[in-house]
Amino acid sequence: MGIPSDLAVGAALTKRRSGRFWPARLDSLQSASGLFLALFLWVHLFAEASILLGKDAMYRVTMFFEGYYLFGTPYPIIITLFSLFILAIVVLHAVLAVRKIPVSYRQYRAYRDHQKLMHHEDTSLWWVQVYTGFALFFLVSVHLYTMISQPANIGPYASSDRVVSEWMWPLYVLLLVTSVIHAAVGSYRVGVKWGWLPARDPALGRRRLKWLMRGFIVFFLLLGFTSLGAYMKIGIEHRDQVGERYVPTWQQESPAPAGRPEVMP
Ligand code: HEM
Repeated sequence: MGIPSDLAVGAALTKRRSGRFWPARLDSLQSASGLFLALFLWVHLFAEASILLGKDAMYRVTMFFEGYYLFGTPYPIIITLFSLFILAIVVLHAVLAVRKIPVSYRQYRAYRDHQKLMHHEDTSLWWVQVYTGFALFFLVSVHLYTMISQPANIGPYASSDRVVSEWMWPLYVLLLVTSVIHAAVGSYRVGVKWGWLPARDPALGRRRLKWLMRGFIVFFLLLGFTSLGAYMKIGIEHRDQVGERYVPTWQQESPAPAGRPEVMP
């Protein structure tokens, strides 16, 4: 083998130097995908809470997401495609996060000893993310698969039947608690990590951000559980007519037994 030229050595060094930035790039991508998913979850919980305004309101929101107001006809395939996109982001986020989890007992012990010694709440919060993130692997997969495979089965009756008669409520209770905590704690940690604090003084900024995190957890748990309660109430009342589709009030004189009504006011 010959002696490498100056040019080849230079190129190898540049390559190695740029390789050093990869952990930071992957960390940024992890933060960005996590923030995106947290934002999606909060918007999703609001959209889904439309049931609290009545069955017609939830029906309209469903129509909106199926593109009715854009195309004049509902296209449930939009829900499938969007759910696939969300699934891709979830997988990306999970793959990036898994890099950080201790893989051997030695690594685990080192982390635990460090945590005990430091008594640092933010370090302990990371462990909350590991537990909730692990549970979410399973919980989100089931929910997203349902949305991908049955996009037309969303609506005041279809969703409530799924929650009660198809026994999805226990999964939704777990999904709600884990996803709301994971999203709020994750966003807090991203804020601390990149220095996005709501005060010049870092200690004060951190305290404020922590209060914001707790506020988000309480607010979205309340909103989610109230909505889930509404779906359960409708699902219980509708137990004997499972499969029947909701007909909005403006269509009730000429009810359509299945599928979507053709005309919207
Ligand atoms: C694009 C993908 C998604 C769609 C279309 C979707 C749609 C829905 C719908 C229609 C419901 C009402 C119940 C039902 O019909 O079964 C629901 C419930 C729920 N979804 Fe999603 N979802 C999606 C992704 C997610 C993700 C990624 C999460 C969590 C990270 C999530 C968390 C929840 C929770 C916690 C509930 C129960 C609601 C409550 O307790 O108020 N969803 N979703």
